[in-house]
Amino acid sequence: MCSQKWPSVCSIKWILLFCLCFGLLLSWFAIKGNRCHPNIAMPYTLHSNSNERSSLVNFLQDGKLPRILYDKPDIFKPRRIDVLSITPWLAPIVWNGTFNRDILNAQFHQREVRIGLTVFAIKKYVIFIKKFIESAEKFFMVGHKVNYYVFTDRVNEISNFTLAEGRHMVILEVPAYERWQDVTMRRMEMIRDFSIKQFVNDVDYLACVDVDMEFLDDVGVEILSKVFGALHPGFFSHTRREFTYERRPQSKAYIPFEAGDFYYAGGYFGGVVEEVVKLTNYCHHAMLADKQQNIEALWHDESYLNKYFLLYKPTKILSPEYIWNNYYGSPASIQTKRFLGVNKKYEEVRF
Ligand SMILES: *[C@@H]1O[C@H](CO)[C@@H](O)[C@H](O)[C@H]1NC(C)=O
Ligand SMILES: *[C@@H]1O[C@H](CO)[C@@H](O)[C@H](O)[C@H]1NC(C)=O
Repeated sequence: MCSQKWPSVCSIKWILLFCLCFGLLLSWFAIKGNRCHPNIAMPYTLHSNSNERSSLVNFLQDGKLPRILYDKPDIFKPRRIDVLSITPWLAPIVWNGTFNRDILNAQFHQREVRIGLTVFAIKKYVIFIKKFIESAEKFFMVGHKVNYYVFTDRVNEISNFTLAEGRHMVILEVPAYERWQDVTMRRMEMIRDFSIKQFVNDVDYLACVDVDMEFLDDVGVEILSKVFGALHPGFFSHTRREFTYERRPQSKAYIPFEAGDFYYAGGYFGGVVEEVVKLTNYCHHAMLADKQQNIEALWHDESYLNKYFLLYKPTKILSPEYIWNNYYGSPASIQTKRFLGVNKKYEEVRF
């Protein structure tokens, strides 16, 4: 049907067809080219492929953070539903399973944080220091800079330990009070004084714990906060009325039956050094004021600590995993016992 005249309708048809094919060919090459050269690909491709992974690596390296891949936190999936993991004043309560230690370690390594651990090995309590330090080397703040501050009246009986890199022991000679009640209460004064004089220059955070204990599982930077305390293993499921707060209104440690959040353990508190100074100073002065009136709070330093935490709420609270005693058995909510009271014949070490 084509006529022989040039340019005819027929040849225009062929030209259009040719252009169409050429155009299709060009766009096919363009798409293929993009696939091969990620640098000119659209930056917002959503496909999970090797390009995306390499850009994630670049992103992580830009921030000078180690490569950590972890599951996205899910708003509709709380990590624990059997226990309270936040207080009404929005302080986290630290339970196993609620945190990712890799993320926390990366954040705290970035800040090159230094941690002091204070412990009192007075009189016969020096026998506990060996197990305490050896277990702390395995489980306490592994990979971070740690100073052990050992307060003792028996310097010569503290054995020589081999500590991992970045970890040091500082032995502080202090007097031993006659009564064990004074030994325990005077810890507040000594921690305060050495914090002002020394710790504030050496470390960022302090953790102040009992020595007749042993670490059995990791205790890391998840405990750190401006000021923290720990739930006493004997009272975390009890009512206010059952808490063994000081109940005499004349005492500085007095807490009425209608008040109180938790019963905190006397053998575990800490925070940034400045906050530990405020806490220990408060407890020491409250104790001295009571002494003037011939009052000694029911549970000594623990009673004053509970009063302090009622008035000045801690910014983080450790679950009883962090200060357990097998005397209280093994309830299901305690998935791991990180720091455990050493079985001792009580009378043998009381002095
Ligand atoms: C503690 O939590 C971790 C998750 O962070 C979990 O894998 C582990 O099983 C928990 N431990 C126990 C004894 O449930
Ligand atoms: C620790 O080592 C020092 C000297 O390096 C020594 O004088 C001291 O007796 C040792 N202490 C113990 C308890 O072995």
